[in-house]
Amino acid sequence: MKISKLPCLLLIALCVMLFFSYITWSPRSHVEEEDNVPKFELEEGSGRKTAASEVFYGIMFDAGSTGTRVHVYKFSRTSSGAPNLDHETFKAIKPGLSAYADEPEKCAAGIKELLDIAMAEIPDNLWSSTPLVLKATAGLRLLPGEKAQKLLDTVRDIFKSSPFLVGKDSVSIMNGTDEGIFAWITVNFLAGSLSNQSAKLAGMLDLGGGSTQITFYPYDKDTFPSAPPGFITTFQLFNRTYHLYSHSYLGLGLMSARLEIMGGKEGIPLQPGEELVTPCLAPAYVTEFEHAGITYKVKGEKGVTSVYESCYRKVGEMLKGKVNHVKEVAVLYFYAFSYYFDRAEDTHLIDPEIGGFVKVKDFKVAANNECTDIEKSGGHPFLCMDLCYITHLLQDLGFPEEKQLKLVKKINDVETSWALGATFYYMSLMQGNV
Ligand SMILES: *[C@@H]1O[C@H](CO)[C@@H](O)[C@H](O)[C@H]1NC(C)=O
Ligand SMILES: *[C@@H]1O[C@H](CO)[C@@H](O)[C@H](O)[C@H]1NC(C)=O
Ligand SMILES: *[C@@H]1O[C@H](CO)[C@@H](O)[C@H](O)[C@H]1NC(C)=O
Repeated sequence: MKISKLPCLLLIALCVMLFFSYITWSPRSHVEEEDNVPKFELEEGSGRKTAASEVFYGIMFDAGSTGTRVHVYKFSRTSSGAPNLDHETFKAIKPGLSAYADEPEKCAAGIKELLDIAMAEIPDNLWSSTPLVLKATAGLRLLPGEKAQKLLDTVRDIFKSSPFLVGKDSVSIMNGTDEGIFAWITVNFLAGSLSNQSAKLAGMLDLGGGSTQITFYPYDKDTFPSAPPGFITTFQLFNRTYHLYSHSYLGLGLMSARLEIMGGKEGIPLQPGEELVTPCLAPAYVTEFEHAGITYKVKGEKGVTSVYESCYRKVGEMLKGKVNHVKEVAVLYFYAFSYYFDRAEDTHLIDPEIGGFVKVKDFKVAANNECTDIEKSGGHPFLCMDLCYITHLLQDLGFPEEKQLKLVKKINDVETSWALGATFYYMSLMQGNV
């Protein structure tokens, strides 16, 4: 019995050797070394399409304030320049990275757990060519710089000892402008407009708690000279150069805006006995508003005859001069996300599952209804204020009342997170670092 095992083992060893030499010399790795073209681009008609060269992966860690989520994307090449998204796997762990601010080394277990998901998902011969990136959002932005840096360094060390491709800028905090651009890439990728030169590119509106973003591709040449400094960003993706108008207005997210509309100051607690008084709540209604770890006492202003008119005026005073008005947005197709979606859902303007189209005017009518009926809005005392704010903000940005926005959470059944766009961006960027 023992003697017959030897030839069998030799045969297995030979098979393994043949397999690895096939992988090493597969057309895909050959193409990359020879041309140094971005992995997701295939020259049209190059005839190099083989099963082995079709598929590639990207890994994006989204380090948010409440948790860390890994996205493992599987792509295949197409002849159009932009790849095809075949599959997405994601998994989230709690708490977020910022919970380890005082003991950064303790974040390792969770990060490794998520890396295991990526290793299980991706064939091992593709590990070394698969970019691994972590982008941190709100939670880390709020930590003192040194603590955030220590956490990022810990993650970077774990990443560097992983078998994946880790570039210079692979672990970092993302600012609002980056987030807006990445979300714009996701939206236009999912809508198919990055792979089709004749398709019109869509704009993207996002309303978070602390900041709000607007990002679009200007077709009108007048938009460029009238844009404030820093609002135009240029980058390359899938062999095309994009000049985008993109800005993140810090402090104009819905929660920061509420505080300012009520006369509060970010990061500054009220004096004992002090309260914020606003015409945007039901007259004499008393409640609390918690924002960025501070609780504010708030009260509806007494003797207001029209809550809607008073609140809308107050919102206008707060927004005055803060937002750049762009004419061109009136004629572009725009998607809107986050609180735009949630507040439209709260007022039954859209289907909670599939979203829908909403006109600026619809928000205005909903604002008027909610503010007029404010005594009845016990469960959602800020709805009147939020809708007045959304209506005013959109008009200040340049969207006329008749303008329609598309509100969705998914496009072609894929969640419209910035993570996918960021993956493309870093795949493209890291070609220079390989
Ligand atoms: C990239 O674009 C240039 C110019 O538009 C074109 O000549 C080239 O073939 C394109 N490359 C790929 C890989 O699509
Ligand atoms: C955001 O970060 C990027 C680098 O990731 C930088 O180029 C850009 O200037 C930053 N934008 C702002 C508004 O700070
Ligand atoms: C590209 O976009 C144009 C304009 O929207 C559309 O008519 C055409 O069908 C699209 N082509 C493909 C291949 O999707």
